[in-house]
Amino acid sequence: MAGLFITFEGMEGAGKTTLIQKLAAHFSASGRDVLITREPGGSGLGKKLRTIILNAEEKISSSAELFLFLADRAEHIEDVIKPALEQGKIVLCDRFTDSTVAYQGYGRGMDRALLETLNGVAAGGLVPDLTVVLDLEPEVGLSRAKKRNAEQNLTVEEGRFEAEALIFHRKIRQGFLEMAQSGGRFFVVDAMQDAEAVFEQVKRKIENMPETEKQR
Ligand code: TYD
Repeated sequence: MAGLFITFEGMEGAGKTTLIQKLAAHFSASGRDVLITREPGGSGLGKKLRTIILNAEEKISSSAELFLFLADRAEHIEDVIKPALEQGKIVLCDRFTDSTVAYQGYGRGMDRALLETLNGVAAGGLVPDLTVVLDLEPEVGLSRAKKRNAEQNLTVEEGRFEAEALIFHRKIRQGFLEMAQSGGRFFVVDAMQDAEAVFEQVKRKIENMPETEKQR
């Protein structure tokens, strides 16, 4: 596919949104067509699923939660991501398959090999060209996320995962770091740095990718 598919992973409060916006502004200014999207909630169906998934008031079993994320992904891939890549866009996606392995696998304790298989089905075999992992101490991420929620007057709907105990978030962090050890498409960035430093590192990484070079 002609485009570039970049996913952003990490815990709440790691600064994914800010980074994605800065990258989009940069690459748009240099003449590239950029699409910002996210999971859950990147498609029409996904928006409906997102309100169900993130509504912390209703209890959902771990497997029901998993299938909602997978349904969101399947639709997102078909309806949004694949068409954008076919049009040669740079797709910047806030969370993707690695969040499922980190949260449902490392966090909730579901079988990771099974999750990899299900992710493959939901993503139609599509693998990101690059996955940026924003890494930081869970304590820092959670206090940033809490501050953001308060500032934006977000309701409990945004809080199902943020309300989890610290130990859950430590498992998530460990999960992302373990996955990233395989190297390959992963690029781990220290998210304790200021937003500008994080942006510069990731921008340089993307500009030096062979896929980006090819498209010049
Ligand atoms: P969101 O508000 O988008 O979180 P953030 O701003 O941190 O990206 O909420 C998405 C939540 O869903 C987040 O806590 C991670 C979780 N999640 C999973 O558990 N599994 C998944 O497959 C995905 C995509 C997200």
